[in-house]
Amino acid sequence: MTMTYRGTTALITGASSGLGEEFARQLAARGADVVLVARRADRLRDLASRLEAEHRITATALSIDLTATDAPSQIHRELESRGIRLSTLVNNAGFGMKGAFADADPARVAEMVQVNVAALVNLTREFLPDLVAAGNGALVSIASTGAYQPCPNMAVYGATKAFVLSFTEALAYETKGSGLSVLAVSPGATRTEFFDVVGTPDAAVGRFETPEKVVTRALSELDRKNTPPSFVSGRLNAITAGLVGWMPRRMALAISGRVLR
Ligand SMILES: NC(=O)c1ccc[n+]([C@@H]2O[C@H](COP(=O)([O-])OP(=O)(O)OC[C@H]3O[C@@H](n4cnc5c(N)ncnc54)[C@H](OP(=O)(O)O)[C@@H]3O)[C@@H](O)[C@H]2O)c1
Repeated sequence: MTMTYRGTTALITGASSGLGEEFARQLAARGADVVLVARRADRLRDLASRLEAEHRITATALSIDLTATDAPSQIHRELESRGIRLSTLVNNAGFGMKGAFADADPARVAEMVQVNVAALVNLTREFLPDLVAAGNGALVSIASTGAYQPCPNMAVYGATKAFVLSFTEALAYETKGSGLSVLAVSPGATRTEFFDVVGTPDAAVGRFETPEKVVTRALSELDRKNTPPSFVSGRLNAITAGLVGWMPRRMALAISGRVLR
């Protein structure tokens, strides 16, 4: 059963690049009106005009910094004032940082927790009643393979993603039977600007997935009659995440520590 997005509106956070931009593209291609949220206004405006021209949909660009604690309620008020009601919310905005926690910039750590966790929770709380009332859309949150084991040297990032996975799966259960599909997506390394932001762009070689592949899989999981609460993108990533769950914690930690050194 293919999900019908035409005539509905999807909000995508982090739509100015990478996975968020690809979610916006694919949802617009399926006929959804889109609301694009991120900080870089020029990128959002360019994408919005391209999507409107290519797919005859309405695209709204909202340049908002999700580190601001009132951003989720501000977004909700803004959409209300424009008469926009959401059927789909894609919680995608997020970033990582690398290095020992003891050396981490406390302000940057606080921003990461705010964007990856607090804004995601608060945006979901703002819109969940509308999404359930619409009953024909989806709530998608981007976790990570890093959600499946502790991540030494990316300790806070891994923990934020474990939070996103747990939170989203719980909501999948709470909203069962409502008509809303809830899905946590866990990509492995994906070719986006993520590693530029982390500060290790040289890590962007080797076994990387494309955003197209991750997003195509996400939308096809949403098309299923019984959408799973979550999936890990990429066969090897899924096998690794599964194995890690069976390993003694000490062993999982040792492997993850070596990989993320
Ligand atoms: N790429 C990977 O290997 C990978 C793997 C697993 C999970 N993920 C997750 O996938 C999601 C998307 O990341 P990506 O890989 O597509 O990386 P990306 O290309 O760097 O995109 C990140 C997006 O988040 C937005 N963002 C960051 N801080 C923000 C803020 N303060 N306010 C509003 N928007 C903000 C950025 O927009 P602006 O800079 O314009 O604000 C950008 O659009 C993230 O949650 C990431 O943790 C990525």
